[in-house]
Amino acid sequence: MKNIVITGGAGFIGSHVVRLFVNKYPEYKIINLDKLTYAGNLANLKDIEDKPNYKFVKMDICDFDAFYKLMQDEQIDGIIHLAAESHVDRSIKDPFTFARTNVMGTLSLLQAAKLYWESLPEKYEGKRFYHISTDEVYGALEMTHPEGVPAPFSTKASSEAQHEAYGEDFFVETTKYNPHSPYSASKASSDHFVRAYHDTYGMPTIVTNCSNNYGPYQFPEKLIPLFINNIRHRKPLPVYGKGENVRDWLYVEDHARAIDTIFHNGKIAETYNIGGFNEWKNIDIIKVVINTVDRLLGRAEGEDLDLITYVTDRLGHDARYAIDSRKLQSELGWEPSLQFEEGIEKTVKWYLENEEWMDDITSGDYEKYYDDMYKGR
Ligand code: NAD
Ligand code: DAU
Repeated sequence: MKNIVITGGAGFIGSHVVRLFVNKYPEYKIINLDKLTYAGNLANLKDIEDKPNYKFVKMDICDFDAFYKLMQDEQIDGIIHLAAESHVDRSIKDPFTFARTNVMGTLSLLQAAKLYWESLPEKYEGKRFYHISTDEVYGALEMTHPEGVPAPFSTKASSEAQHEAYGEDFFVETTKYNPHSPYSASKASSDHFVRAYHDTYGMPTIVTNCSNNYGPYQFPEKLIPLFINNIRHRKPLPVYGKGENVRDWLYVEDHARAIDTIFHNGKIAETYNIGGFNEWKNIDIIKVVINTVDRLLGRAEGEDLDLITYVTDRLGHDARYAIDSRKLQSELGWEPSLQFEEGIEKTVKWYLENEEWMDDITSGDYEKYYDDMYKGR
């Protein structure tokens, strides 16, 4: 029996990790710890909420006393830490909230785990603190490829070709940290604290840095669900700058599977990069999303291309992210299960079939936030 806390389990990636662990490991007790900020939504977990090995606890990760008590009461063996403020645009407007949750919140979890685990006879034996981080801590890569990126629709073969084309111009595990946004600075800081708890106290920690995720249950302030919803309602699609920035996209369930593999088989104190060699210029991926939505809604393909609206660029907008995940692939045998074509088709279908989920989120407070954000550009 293992007792595992997954923080941020009501969010986008966290809900996929909770679902995977609850279904795959009936012998574990999975505790989803989440404050339920604007980004947390228990509707993401409706299908597993009644399972006997699942428990939800509403808690702020900054509440040291409450978390220490939870560690004791539930005899926690493992922590998979995803709770965070995660949206770059919000971090530009309100950096303090990001420092509080992402830095102080992570430190609070680390210190509570340290005190509890060090009080046990077996101490750190069989324990694990696994911190989920992002590729954004590494900063930005140059747009070295003359045509931007190979597109559209990568295949496994073209992923390898992409690696060839870019040579060594990827983020690897030893790339120096160089965060630019308040969000990535807060994540970088939390990563350093996690490593410091290993180096100073011997806590069994692991850190992973993943590229952009896409898939069901993503909060619709992020590019792909926001644009799917706007296309559905024929609202403008705000493309920052020239739409030339490059992101490396991974289907969220593949990230969850990587987390499972690394939680169980990763080496203590190691870092693993997670990504699928799937780079896209924003404007290219946006066109794929428009064509897919139009086709699935029975509209003429490309009918909504004129919704594209170029707006003021994001401040400090990182040019390109690209993850080299070969260490994870060769040492632990993980690889992405989906081709991008399948992933994006599944994703668009899911949002179109789950209008109620989307409409619940996009009504009320969020609608006002989004309108203000859009007008601000
Ligand atoms: P999300 O914003 O969808 O979800 C974050 C969750 O954390 C929400 O459920 C929210 O309620 C919870 N939370 C926020 N503050 C909290 C607090 N103080 N106490 C307790 N819970 C709190 O985020 P996501 O996109 O699912 O990202 C999850 C993690 O993965 C983050 O750490 C993020 O940095 C990292 N990550 C995300 C991506 C991506 O593409 N989305 C890529 C790489 C890494
Ligand atoms: O790389 C991993 C990161 O990916 C995670 O750590 C973050 O939590 C996650 O939010 C994501 O960050 P991005 O800033 O890359 O994601 P976002 O969906 O906000 O934006 C993707 C790209 O699209 C980025 O270049 C900005 C651009 N964009 C975004 C929005 C919301 C637009 O052009 N218009 C938009 O309206």
